[in-house]
Amino acid sequence: MGSTVNSPSTPIIIPSSPLQTSFIPKTSQLSIFKKKKPFNFASKKLVSCKASDRNQNNADSSSLNRFDRRDILLGLGGLYGATNLVSDPFASAAPIAAPDLSLCENSTVTSSSSGTSISVPCCPPKATNIIDFKPPRFSNIRLRPAAHLVDANYLEKFTKAMELMKALPDDDPRSFKQQANVHCAYCNGAYDHVGFPDQQLQIHFSWLFFPFHRFYLYFYERILGKLIGDPNFVMPFWNWDSPPGMVIPDIYVDPTSPLYDEKRNVDHQPPKMLDLDYAGTEELLSKRDQIKSNLSVMYRQMVTYKTPSLFHGAAYRAGDNPSPGMGSVENNPHTAVHRWVGDKREPFSEDMGNFYSAGRDPLFYAHHCNVDRLWNIWKSLPGKKRTDFTDTDWLDSSFLFYDDNANLVRVKVRDCLNSRTLGYDYQKVNIPWLKNKPTPRRPGRGSGSGSAMAAETNTKTVIRNAFPIVLDKLVRIEVPRTKKSRTKVEKENEEEVLVLQNIRVDRDVAVKFDVYINDEDDETPTEPEDSEFAGSFTNIPHNHHNPAVKLDTNLTLPLSDLLEDLDIERDDNIVVTLVPKEGKGLVSIGNIKIDFVRD
Ligand code: C2O
Repeated sequence: MGSTVNSPSTPIIIPSSPLQTSFIPKTSQLSIFKKKKPFNFASKKLVSCKASDRNQNNADSSSLNRFDRRDILLGLGGLYGATNLVSDPFASAAPIAAPDLSLCENSTVTSSSSGTSISVPCCPPKATNIIDFKPPRFSNIRLRPAAHLVDANYLEKFTKAMELMKALPDDDPRSFKQQANVHCAYCNGAYDHVGFPDQQLQIHFSWLFFPFHRFYLYFYERILGKLIGDPNFVMPFWNWDSPPGMVIPDIYVDPTSPLYDEKRNVDHQPPKMLDLDYAGTEELLSKRDQIKSNLSVMYRQMVTYKTPSLFHGAAYRAGDNPSPGMGSVENNPHTAVHRWVGDKREPFSEDMGNFYSAGRDPLFYAHHCNVDRLWNIWKSLPGKKRTDFTDTDWLDSSFLFYDDNANLVRVKVRDCLNSRTLGYDYQKVNIPWLKNKPTPRRPGRGSGSGSAMAAETNTKTVIRNAFPIVLDKLVRIEVPRTKKSRTKVEKENEEEVLVLQNIRVDRDVAVKFDVYINDEDDETPTEPEDSEFAGSFTNIPHNHHNPAVKLDTNLTLPLSDLLEDLDIERDDNIVVTLVPKEGKGLVSIGNIKIDFVRD
C-alpha cells in the first residue's frame, strides 16, 4: 500500500501534538472557540430553562453590554478552548435581529480572477411600519408539487402568476426584481447586525440557512397566489434527489416562458444529468453512474448527519463574525446545484452561480423548495437527535419580508419550524437515496490497518507544524483520535466529527475540495459511493463590503458511521486526504482536529 502515499506530490502532515494544534488560542481561531463554556455540564434543558431571563436580557441589553460580554467570552474561549461543540450556558440572549432597512447599503460584487467589481443596489423599498408575523389560519394543507409532475392546468396558473409578478413596477416590493434583491441583500452584505455596524449580516454558512429560505419562499408563494387570486397556490419543487428530477424540469426551459432564464449554463440543458458532486468541470459519467453518485451524495448528506448543528449549521448570534459553518445540505448538494445551473461565461457566474443574482432565476425557487423539503424529510428520519434547535437565540432570530399586501413583516425562526404551520407540505414522491449507503472501496481491510499505515508514514516524508495548509494539491494529514471503540450509547450521545478550522478563501471564489478518510489510493479517484468519502467543502461566490476580508469558516463532518463502515473504530489515528477540485491554491486551512458533537 504505502508507495503512492509517499510520493512527493502528496505530503503527509502530522500535527506535532494534538493538544497544541487543537487549543492554540489564535485570534483567527476565535470564531470557533468563542463563547464556549469551560466545562461540559450543559444540556439542552439547561439552555431552554434560561428562556425567560434571556428575554429579560434582551429587553434592556444595549449593544454596548453585549460587546462587553462578548469580550469576556472571547477571553474564556481562548483560555479553555473548545472541548466540544455543544450549546453554551453563558450565552446571553443574542438572537440575530431583523435588519434596519434605513441602514441598508449597496452590495459590492467582485471577481478576484478578472479583477472586476460592480456596485449593485439590492436594498428593498423602505417602510416605517413593521407588522409582527402571525401564521395565518389555513383551512387545508396545500402540497407543493414536484416540478416534473405538474399538469397543464397547474402550469398555466404558475406561468400566469410569474408573468404578473414580472409585470409589477420595479419599485413594488413584490415585483420579480425586488424579490430577487431580497436574496442579494441578505447574502451580499447590504445589512449590518443591529447594534454592530461592523458586522455584516450573512444568512448562509450558519443555522439561519434553512429558516431564512423557508420564509423567503413562503412570502414569494403568497405573492404569486395573490396575483392570480388563488390563496391556495403553491410553488413547485425541483426533485433533484430522485432520478426523474435529475435534469432541469421541462417547465423551466421554454425560452418563451416567464420561468425561463437565459443566464444558465448552456451545456446543462435537458437531457443533461445534474451532477450533485459538481466541481466546475464535466464528469462524463454514464447516466447510471451519475444517478448512483447523486444518490450516494444524498444518502451521506441526509442520513449520516444526525444532530441539529450538523444538519442546520453552526450557531450564529448577534455580533458574531459571519459564516461560522455550513450544515450538511447547504454545503452539498445545495451549492452544487447553484454552480451547475449558473452560467460560467457570465462575469460573476450569473444567475444561479452567485448569491447576488441567484434570485433572478425562477429555477432558484424550485431548487430551494427542494432544499426546504429536505428539512422536513430529515426530521422524519429515525434518530432521536433529528430535531430542530431549542436554543432561543435561534428561535428568536428574525428577518424582514414584504408580504402579499406589500406590508413589511417581521418573522421569527420559531414560527417556521413546521411547514404545516405555514399551510404547506410537499407532494409525496419516492425517496430512492435512502437505499444508497456508500460502501468501502476496500472491503476486508480490518481494524488496525489505519494505525499500521500511520506508523509507516511516520518514518517517511513528514511535514511538521504545517498549518495553515494552502490547498494547492492533494494533501494527507494524520489526525489523532482521543476516544476509541466507543459503545453504541456513547456514539448515540456524541457524534465523533472531523473539524476543519479557519478555512479561508476570498468570498468571490468558487470552491470545492473533497475530504477522504484512510484512502491512500491516488490512482483511482474516490467517488461519493465510497465510504471513504467523508464530504466536501464548497463556496458559492458572494461578497461582503470589503473584498479584502476573506471568508473564514469551519467545516464539521460526521465520522461515526464512516469509522464503523471502514472498521477502523479501534484505530489511534485517521489519515485525512484533502483534494482540491475547484479553487485550487486559493484556500487555506488553519487546523484539523477530531471533536465530539453533543447537541
Ligand atoms: Cu440563499 Cu441557495 O442560496
